[in-house]
Amino acid sequence: MSTVAARARAISSKQVMSILGLVPLGAYVVAHLWTNMYSLGGPEAFDRRLAESRSSPAFILLEVFGLGLPIVAHAWLGLQILLRMRPNNVNYPALRNLKYLLQRVSAVGVLLFLAAHVIKARIMPAMAHTTESWQGMHEALSEMPTFTVYLLGLLGVSYHLANGVWGSALTLGLTVTPEGQRRMEWFSGLFFGVLVLMSGLALYGFRPFQM
Ligand code: HEM
Repeated sequence: MSTVAARARAISSKQVMSILGLVPLGAYVVAHLWTNMYSLGGPEAFDRRLAESRSSPAFILLEVFGLGLPIVAHAWLGLQILLRMRPNNVNYPALRNLKYLLQRVSAVGVLLFLAAHVIKARIMPAMAHTTESWQGMHEALSEMPTFTVYLLGLLGVSYHLANGVWGSALTLGLTVTPEGQRRMEWFSGLFFGVLVLMSGLALYGFRPFQM
């Protein structure tokens, strides 16, 4: 393959990654946090909301094709980028360069967190012919190791998605001027704050460590 063809292929796979990262994955993260914020309303409100969100027979198709396959594809392309990574933050200690490194560090954290979260909150209840519930989340989050994993995992997801919006805008050619990139930097910071707030409220709603 010629260098030009190889570069064109590399660019398009990066664009595929960006699009998958924004929609469906990013959109799903926001919708999922919104559903989980129903925890604030207590066991009944949360369990009803969860049942409603899963009531469509097409839900499993959405989970597999709208979520499972996109995440496998995004993570597969992401792992190839991670294997080629050569951090140079000591020589170039700029903030943007630090964010670039954190994007990749958070990717590893998100991968581990999602694996643990899907097994614990989706696969294990499904094998027991049930679904996750407010009470189940309350009990799980009242154990310090699980609480810590969720706290760090949600921080990682929030950072990876919010900073990923900045990266995607660049990858997709939406922010070509330095001014546009600066504005997107503000948006990304604000979005990070919103995601952290939503995560914190959802966690708090399960009343961890309270009787
Ligand atoms: C909740 C799940 C995830 C969401 C919403 C998400 C979203 C995004 C977005 C929007 C980008 C920006 C793409 C760009 O800069 O053009 C990105 C970048 C990246 N993602 Fe993810 N991602 C998720 C999970 C993962 C996982 C599991 C991995 C696996 C290791 C991963 C690896 C990466 C890497 C390495 C980059 C940097 C690409 C680059 O700048 O060269 N992501 N992600």
